[in-house]
Amino acid sequence: MGNGQVELKDVASLCKRRGFIFQDSEIYGGLGSVWDYGPLGVELKINVKKQWWKSMVYDRSDVEGLDAAILMNPETWKASGHVGSFQDMLSDCMNCKKRFRIDHLKGKDCPECGGVLTSPKSFNLMFKTRLGSVEDDAQEIYLRPETAQGIFVNFENILNSSRQKLPFGVAQMGKSFRNEITTGNFTFRSREFEQMELEFFVKPGEDEKWYDYWVSERFNWYLSLGIKKENLRIREHDKEELAHYAKKCHDIEFLFAMGWSEIEGIASRTDYDLKKHAELSGRSLQYFDTASGEGFVPYVIEPSGGIDRAALAFFVDAYRTETVRDRKRTYLSFDNRLAPIKVAVLPLLRTNAEIVEKALKIRDDLRGDYRVVYDDTASIGRLYRRQDEIGTPYCVTVDVDSLSDNKVTVRDRDTMKQDRIDMAQLKTFISEKLGM
Ligand code: GAP
Repeated sequence: MGNGQVELKDVASLCKRRGFIFQDSEIYGGLGSVWDYGPLGVELKINVKKQWWKSMVYDRSDVEGLDAAILMNPETWKASGHVGSFQDMLSDCMNCKKRFRIDHLKGKDCPECGGVLTSPKSFNLMFKTRLGSVEDDAQEIYLRPETAQGIFVNFENILNSSRQKLPFGVAQMGKSFRNEITTGNFTFRSREFEQMELEFFVKPGEDEKWYDYWVSERFNWYLSLGIKKENLRIREHDKEELAHYAKKCHDIEFLFAMGWSEIEGIASRTDYDLKKHAELSGRSLQYFDTASGEGFVPYVIEPSGGIDRAALAFFVDAYRTETVRDRKRTYLSFDNRLAPIKVAVLPLLRTNAEIVEKALKIRDDLRGDYRVVYDDTASIGRLYRRQDEIGTPYCVTVDVDSLSDNKVTVRDRDTMKQDRIDMAQLKTFISEKLGM
């Protein structure tokens, strides 16, 4: 099945049924475009983040990590341009009262009912809140709409406390908030989401070279974690599409059912942000190059990805259906590093105390470095189907013969091939198979 054909409604249904993603505060009717990650979703997200952090921080020596606060001094957003420029132009339909983004409209009339639209008004996408206990004295602040600014305002701190020299980067993951107008497509455009962003500081003049480097690094990261090449592409922004801070931008797009859609953007932000923060804060935010004896404001290359969008793309890309002996089988062919559960240990007979005891011992021996579960709540056929649907790469089954020959069956999710493995060799066998 081509992944452009995997409908997000089928993904959403599986996500709810199996515990990946739920509508936020569902018992009260939910909250528009806000999502909660269930027991399996949180594992998938943690695994995406682990792989990003590994490739951005642990595998390199020119990147430092950061975890800046969500709430920031509101001057930040004046300097960054978000107060003035982070807005959509909107029109309301005078008849059906629906609201539309001007850049999404094809004609002059309401696309839903043909009614007359109001003249466009601008709408800032930042969520406002108030800091302070007394309402009258409270200061109006914002929930951050991108994690990037936490890095720019800490540029001087990181420069002074680390031993980094240009070129170097600062990586950060965390929540961002946008009061999006056009939502839908499941988690693709949410109002609360997580970003994984790198600000890579370079000498002006070396920005083009590093820009090309990061576009290709980031494209290859998705491929290395199993996304099929035919589902991934790079697209350059037209001049009119560029964000207010960007000189150039390439999107990495994934082929969802609604068409090619951005999962990450790589932007050349020049010295825009550091210069604006220097102007408003009165700090110099320069880099002093000891070799040339010169001070200057570095340029920035920014690969900025969405963790929720990456998780959704990995999910859709891994989604497979096939017919096996006249029955439909759905399975998620996740890369082992992303699979929420790595091994499920299943007893063939849950009424046999010896089998159950052995299975529980195997679970305890295998767990520690990754998630291993025991399940005896259904027949073996149903247990396999459940693990297939949540993308567990290996199932270990303990049967009556295991009690005498000390061997277990290891079933591969994708091929359904079964190997009979000596229990003494199981841990090594599984860890070699998983590559971890
Ligand atoms: N600092 C640059 C920046 O924030 P962006 O293109 O607005 O750039 C970067 O966002 C990434 O964040 C996107 O490629 C997308 O993956 C994710 N993202 C942005 N808005 C989102 C939303 N409403 N819901 C989910 N993810 C979103």
